[in-house]
Amino acid sequence: MPFSKDFLWGGATAANQCEGGYNQGGRGLANVDLVPHGKDRFPIITGEMKHLEFDEEHFYPAKEAIDMYHHWKDDLALFAEMGFKTYRMSIAWTRIFPKGDEQEPNEEGLQFYEDIFKECKRLGIEPLVTITHFDCPVHLIKEYGGWRNRKMVGFYEKLARTIFTRFKGLVRYWLTFNEINMLLHAPFMGAGLVFEEGENKEQAKYLAAHHELLASALATKIAHEIDPENKIGCMLAAGEYYPFDCNPENVLEAQKQNHDNLFFIDVQSRGKYPNYLLKRLEREDVQLPIETGDLEILAENTVDFISFSYYSSRVAKIKDKDADKSAGNIFESVTNPYLKASEWGWQIDPLGLRITMNSIYDRYQKPLFVVENGLGALDKPDENGFVADDYRIDYMAAHIKEMKKAVELDGVELLGYTSWGCIDLVSAGTGEMSKRYGFIYVDRDDFGKGTLKRTSKKSFDWYKKVIASNGEDL
Ligand code: BG6
Repeated sequence: MPFSKDFLWGGATAANQCEGGYNQGGRGLANVDLVPHGKDRFPIITGEMKHLEFDEEHFYPAKEAIDMYHHWKDDLALFAEMGFKTYRMSIAWTRIFPKGDEQEPNEEGLQFYEDIFKECKRLGIEPLVTITHFDCPVHLIKEYGGWRNRKMVGFYEKLARTIFTRFKGLVRYWLTFNEINMLLHAPFMGAGLVFEEGENKEQAKYLAAHHELLASALATKIAHEIDPENKIGCMLAAGEYYPFDCNPENVLEAQKQNHDNLFFIDVQSRGKYPNYLLKRLEREDVQLPIETGDLEILAENTVDFISFSYYSSRVAKIKDKDADKSAGNIFESVTNPYLKASEWGWQIDPLGLRITMNSIYDRYQKPLFVVENGLGALDKPDENGFVADDYRIDYMAAHIKEMKKAVELDGVELLGYTSWGCIDLVSAGTGEMSKRYGFIYVDRDDFGKGTLKRTSKKSFDWYKKVIASNGEDL
């Protein structure tokens, strides 16, 4: 049997995509609340368009999302029914520190998460908690400019210390920043950055990158001090770049693009900035805001495991502006002619998961955790509200098969697998509800209409069987 008996099967969500309750329980406003559905979403996500207030003309899906704020107990019961061993979720920073720079945390927010973790414990579900999943208090953006400001390190440190202390004994597995490399592609989501007119954007991104890496290392240090049982992971938006062909120029291009993604977790896992990055930044005249003592903090506080999301592989090709492009997270990639794509144009490559796992494991030699994988698809309920999502089952079975080979045949150490959006939630990329990933259908549309009723899909029973057989019965 490739997977150990403790293998952590489960599902993943993020506060801003499912919780809602944006103005309840003392919660403050976050960047993600202000990202609307529709054509302005992309320029806002990428920090090109300043949008720090609600207006009448947009619809903001995160405000209510799927209202897990009020449904969490029932939702956890459904996860338990599937046999989840773990549940990956994130904490909304603004529930704990509504503005981000307060002296004292908001008790109601802490209590909200404590209740969830206690219920998880009762159900035998191990929480895996992302400290920030694309969220940043709006006050910290307005007042300090988001992560380009070093003060953010201190605010994050305080958040981390508060939750590690309060949830000691309830939570052991933590991720510091969701998809930390996304900062370069979606800087408003990844780092609360809104660019000023004429600003050197690359410089701003690398200021933010250093501050997040420092904050991640400090959180790792504090977590280990507060409870040596704590296990801290970094989190990468993964997906190997393949060279378009064996033209050495394309091979080099693929290596370069892989480097741009990997440098963040190189620092978090190996404890130092890789030379390829330092040389590039030197050539481009971009400075890292390294202060005395920073490099020691990075070196001494590396992560315990490497987690990542995997939806697709990517393709690199030089000097071809006209090449066919495919979608995929925020990353655009040259189209791979060997692969089919989802309805949203994300190419489907199960073998790429095995390849990606091998590359990451070879590089770091630390246990891995697949914390996101799944198929965003249009589900059409029948007259009884039932969704027969065989396409999702096929996608997941094919990926789990390759993940199994990475463990069984290649010897990759793997802690667990949490599929993305185990219950339908708001899409991070598009703000749609109609891009569904779940085993559980939620009756809500792209504009907030619907009863919020939860209904199990065909994949619900399938995943239950996968977990019960520890990945044998696919
Ligand atoms: C990852 C994110 O990038 O991909 C999630 O961590 C996101 O927050 C997921 O939802 C799927 O992307 P999308 O755009 O389909 O929601």
